[in-house]
Order: sequence, then structure tokens, then C-alpha cells
Amino acid sequence: MKTSERLDRLPPYLFAELERKIAAKKAAGVDVISLGIGDPDTPTPDAPIDALAKAARQPATHQYPSNRGRPELRDALARFYERRFGVELDAGTEIVPALGAKECIFNLSLAFLDPGSVALAADPGYPVYTGGPLLAGAGAELMPLLPERAFAPDLDAVAPDVRERARLMYLNYPNNPTGAVAPDGLFERAVEFGREHDVVVVHDASYTETTFEGYVAPSFLETPGAKEVGVEVFSLSKGYNMTGWRTAAIVGRADAVEAYWKLKTNIDSGMFEAVQLAAVAALEDSETPRRMSAIYQRRRDLVVDALREVGVEVAPPMGTIYVWAPVPEGHTSASYCELVLDESGVVVSPGASYGPNGEGFFRISLTVPDERLTEAMQRMRSSLGG
Ligand SMILES: Cc1ncc(COP(=O)(O)O)c(C=O)c1O
Repeated sequence: MKTSERLDRLPPYLFAELERKIAAKKAAGVDVISLGIGDPDTPTPDAPIDALAKAARQPATHQYPSNRGRPELRDALARFYERRFGVELDAGTEIVPALGAKECIFNLSLAFLDPGSVALAADPGYPVYTGGPLLAGAGAELMPLLPERAFAPDLDAVAPDVRERARLMYLNYPNNPTGAVAPDGLFERAVEFGREHDVVVVHDASYTETTFEGYVAPSFLETPGAKEVGVEVFSLSKGYNMTGWRTAAIVGRADAVEAYWKLKTNIDSGMFEAVQLAAVAALEDSETPRRMSAIYQRRRDLVVDALREVGVEVAPPMGTIYVWAPVPEGHTSASYCELVLDESGVVVSPGASYGPNGEGFFRISLTVPDERLTEAMQRMRSSLGG
């Protein structure tokens, strides 16, 4: 069998590798604690489950949905953006539901990139920002996110020939994997850059609802001019414990939303309508993201304290469900993560899987119960030199 060259060009998917390693350990009888994947361990709240159950009993929801989404969901998203961010959206032209932020981010590469063009992608960053462009037959140009710049890309450092070829720029704050929040002035600079170089700015807002110590994450669309240059991809996955439901939306610049919709009508047939109605119920509840943020903040502190006890200093992140920590001296991120799995049966993610500038770091996910997290940190002590 011959697979396509585009498929052959892809590096192994990070989490596929991790899943294989975990399975092998488990098969060998090891009690593995996985801090590798950011997948909330707490159940989806009752309101969306009840709404789903009720809607699923209505036969009208059983037919093909429209890719535009039900008006109830688009209206609920518009209300949410108004209430939460003070951003006004036209539910008719500026909102389309997506089957998860991942689908949307990937399909934006197909909608906007040709061979020879590129997407500007944060490094380290969510792997789809680089995998999407590769699969689209285009390229990804990495924008380093460095601790000394508060993990903001330096847009002035993007080379002139790259600016010319760039059509998309992927940003993400609160940021996976670094935990950084939107640096001052970055969104304003991104608007200028998008305008000047005809680049569609895509802000991945997957973690805006998970923040700590009173920090409130902004939407990119709050920035003056943002709606003229870009879109935001909002997801219910993390903030509402709905990763399995595949509920997200693209919102903002109308012609970009329309391009995404046009592509999507050729690829999938939209979101199950009962799930759309469940998403409406979820969006009306602002209590769940607050409650979950409190849980993650407690776990963040637990991890940061445990690291500190063995001499590893990390700045506590103000958002996301991750702690980004330096690997001990003498290790690469991959060799360290292998060691942790072998010595302690704990899975953490190697920073280099998120891009070359992730080298030297590893990522701890906070999506396991406190007792398991405490045990994992205890088991990791020796690998950290404690
Ligand atoms: C930055 C970022 N964007 C998007 C996603 C995927 O979100 P969804 O479940 O909505 O596809 C993730 C999941 O981990 C993520 O970390």
C-alpha cells in the first residue's frame, strides 16, 4: 500500500506515541499515572447532559445538521461573547460551530494555504499549527516563544520573505504548553501585522475560561480592529469538561468564517443537533469554568510546591491546565520523560514535541485527581534530584 506523500511527511503524533508507551507499561503491570494529556478528569456538568438527553428524544435532531449550526447555538455564542468579553458578534455571519478547536484549526490551513505559502506558528505550540499546514501542502514558519519575552512571539523578527508568503498566524493565550497568558501589546501588534501583510490572525482561545488568582483572560476580538483581521476559535472542551463532545466555534471576521464554512461543507456534515443544544446549556453556565479553575489552581500549587521542594523553580502559570518546567541538567526533554516513565510510571510530555523551543522543558498536565497528582510528584522526586 502506498500512502500519500503528505501523510508520510508528518512526524509521529505526539499523543499516539505516548499512548503506545502507556499501553506497554500497563500491559507490564505498572500502575501508570498519566500527566501527559490535558483531558479533564471531572465529568461534564448536568445541564448539558440533560439538554442532550432531552434533545436526543426529538427525532428532528436525528437528521443531518446544517454546517451553519442551529440559530440557538449561534445566538448562545453571541450572548456568551457579549457577556464574557464585551464583544458583539453577528450570529448570522460571524459564528460557525466547529467539531472541536482541533478540527477548526486544521481546516483553516486547508482553507487558506497553498503550496509556497506559510502559516506562522508559535514554537512551542499545539502540534496542529504545524501539522495542518504540512497536510495542506504548505509550510509552517516557527515563531519562537521564549521565557525572556513572556512567551510572546517577536513579530518584528519575522523575515521579509516569510511575511510575504504568510497567510495565517496561529496564536494561543492562555498558552499550551507554556501556561503563559496574553502578553501586553501582543494582540494589538498582531492586528497591525495582519493588516500590513494580509495575514489572517487565528487566536486559539481554548483556555480562556481556565485562569487563576482572579486573572481574567481576554478574547483577541476585544482588541480594536481584530475583527477585520482575524478569527478566534473558542472551545468548550477544557473550560466545561466537554472534550469528548467535540464542541467549539469559529467567531470573528466574516469572510474568514465564510471561507471556513465553505470548506467544511465539503468535508463534514456538522455537529449533532442534540450536542448543539447541549452546548447552549453549557454556555449559559458560568459557574463550571469558575469551579474548575479553582480545582486546577489548587493542583497547580501542589505541583509548583512539589517542584520547589526539589529545587526546581517554576513561575506559577496564571491559566491553562499545565505546568511547564525545566528538565534536570544533563537531559533532553525526551530522555527525561523516558526516565520518568521508566523509573516512576509517570507520563509527562517532552517539551520538544511542541517545537524546537520546547527543548529543555517538560509539561505536566493537571487533569488527574489531587491524590494521584500528589503521588505522581512524590514518585518523580528522585528523577528530579530530590
Ligand atoms: C491549544 C489547544 N488548542 C486546541 C485544542 C483542541 O481542542 P478541542 O478539544 O476543542 O478540539 C487543544 C487540546 O489540547 C489545545 O491544547
